[in-house]
Amino acid sequence: MSKDQIIAWLGERFDLKRIQELVDQQVKKPLPKNISWLHTLGSMSLFLFISQILTGILLLIYYRPTVNEAFESVKFIMTKPSLGWLYRQVHAWGANLMILIVFLHMLRTFFMGAFKKPREITWVIGALLFIFTLVFGFTGYLLPWNQLAYWATTVGTEIAGGIPVIGEWTKIFLRGGAAIGGETLSRFFVIHVIILPWLVFFLIGAHLLLVRVQGISTMEKVDQEIKLKEGEGTPFFPHHVLKEGIVLYLLIGILIGLSILLPFELGEKADPLQTPHAIKPEWYFLPMYQMLKYLPKLLGILMLAMGPLILIGWPFLDKTKARHPRQRPISTGIGIAMIVLLIVFGLLGHWAD
Ligand code: HEM
Repeated sequence: MSKDQIIAWLGERFDLKRIQELVDQQVKKPLPKNISWLHTLGSMSLFLFISQILTGILLLIYYRPTVNEAFESVKFIMTKPSLGWLYRQVHAWGANLMILIVFLHMLRTFFMGAFKKPREITWVIGALLFIFTLVFGFTGYLLPWNQLAYWATTVGTEIAGGIPVIGEWTKIFLRGGAAIGGETLSRFFVIHVIILPWLVFFLIGAHLLLVRVQGISTMEKVDQEIKLKEGEGTPFFPHHVLKEGIVLYLLIGILIGLSILLPFELGEKADPLQTPHAIKPEWYFLPMYQMLKYLPKLLGILMLAMGPLILIGWPFLDKTKARHPRQRPISTGIGIAMIVLLIVFGLLGHWAD
């Protein structure tokens, strides 16, 4: 069948002209002049999510979510199947990079005031995506069932246990019993491979739909944005798509480079009777973990519980009209102070015994 015959066959069944018009409209959509390399962080987050799904499916072929087989099955993936070591490493590095890139994308939209009217819902969905990306990291970390995973999850769920009123219930619910065991592994597995991927998939869909419908924000004040007409601004294709292509190409290089040069070790199989002497959470939980050490227990945990709520509701707290970071010194100051705190507590946690 030739190309023309295929098009004719499809044309008898679908309104191809209309579909072509819709695609053209999206592809040629003008972007504001202020579009920069920083505006590729969103598509980098999307690429990393897709990469996690693909490598995750490959891992699922051999992974076994039981206490007796989990560790051995990951060891098997790293040594036996063709390129098994590579897709396990790309998945592990991809998880770390995704958290970093989604965080940077959040900072970009925060400092450029892109979360303000009319894009509050885009931010709320984004904030949920960031939280779920962290939950992806937390639940995935336990799956290899090694010593680090076992004990980091013990500490993590212990922290949840400190929340007033619902803490003990939350801890038991997460663990599936009093201690970390087979029940915990099953729960984390279901959350990691079924619940979160679908939830994040639909949230990303809604996020991108809003970005497309509302367009990328400019630096003008709220209610003063000028709608771009056709032929104005920077065309999405090929200008911005080319930028995205370049960063994705680099990202693939970084992912594979890190996987080869700095592979994640599997370590020892989990042993509930042997506590390792230094248990530290992954870098993305380290600042919070360290902060908890300096604050009275209840205050620290209340702050941890309030943090996500403030993040999600931020567009409704900062209702100033200006978008440019220099024109809204208070929120810019809060943003910078947050970054400094995260770095300081992260470093203190890193250096702590
Ligand atoms: C898996 C996670 C995410 C994906 C795949 C994603 C994807 C995208 C993409 C492709 C764009 C358009 C290009 C760009 O601005 O970079 C965008 C815009 C946006 N995102 Fe995200 N995003 C994610 C997480 C977040 C988070 C965590 C936030 C904030 C809490 C956020 C808030 C926004 C906002 C406010 C815009 C509009 C930007 C503007 O109009 O200038 N996103 N997102």
